[in-house]
Amino acid sequence: MNNSPSELKMLIDRKQIAATVKKLAEEIRRDYDGLNPLAVGILKGSFVFLADLVRAIEIPMQVDFVKLSSYGSGTRSAGRITVLLDLNCSLEGRHVLVVEDIVDTGLTTSFLCNYLKQKSPASVRLCSLTSKPSRRVVDIKIDYLGLEVPDKFLVGYGLDCAEKYRNLPDICEFQEE
Ligand code: IMP
Repeated sequence: MNNSPSELKMLIDRKQIAATVKKLAEEIRRDYDGLNPLAVGILKGSFVFLADLVRAIEIPMQVDFVKLSSYGSGTRSAGRITVLLDLNCSLEGRHVLVVEDIVDTGLTTSFLCNYLKQKSPASVRLCSLTSKPSRRVVDIKIDYLGLEVPDKFLVGYGLDCAEKYRNLPDICEFQEE
């Protein structure tokens, strides 16, 4: 791929990502076996992680997506969140697993978990591939966490910078010039 090497620094390579996804899938499979959970991916960033995760979980489940606003084209959260694309199925009595690529301030996942809890699900839990704990502004419990990462802007494996780099197979640090 034609990326400028000065812009990207490898942080989590594809082997480490695969091992992390496997570990998370095993935990989720153990906890949700027989519960027919609904995985809810947050678009767009979670699409690569969610695709790998649900295939590794290997139990009957359903998948849906929501799209939320909060980030513009830059590298910092605007802090305002609205639902741009909602679920079109009932959550009543369902075990919902929110799947996110990265928890940064926690505002997005906190908003979504509270929003989904109003729809009478049996449970709502959160799975995130990565977390930047030093950036948190709200308390949010990540039930299934892959890796803690430093306060750097990351791209790849679904994560973008102004829509670029989502298709990188590794997670890299984006170094602003
Ligand atoms: P939060 O609401 O601040 O926790 O941000 C969560 C959302 O911000 C994620 O869904 C990502 O889309 C985006 N985000 C946060 N940190 C990064 C990053 O380092 N790279 C790319 N997107 C990020």
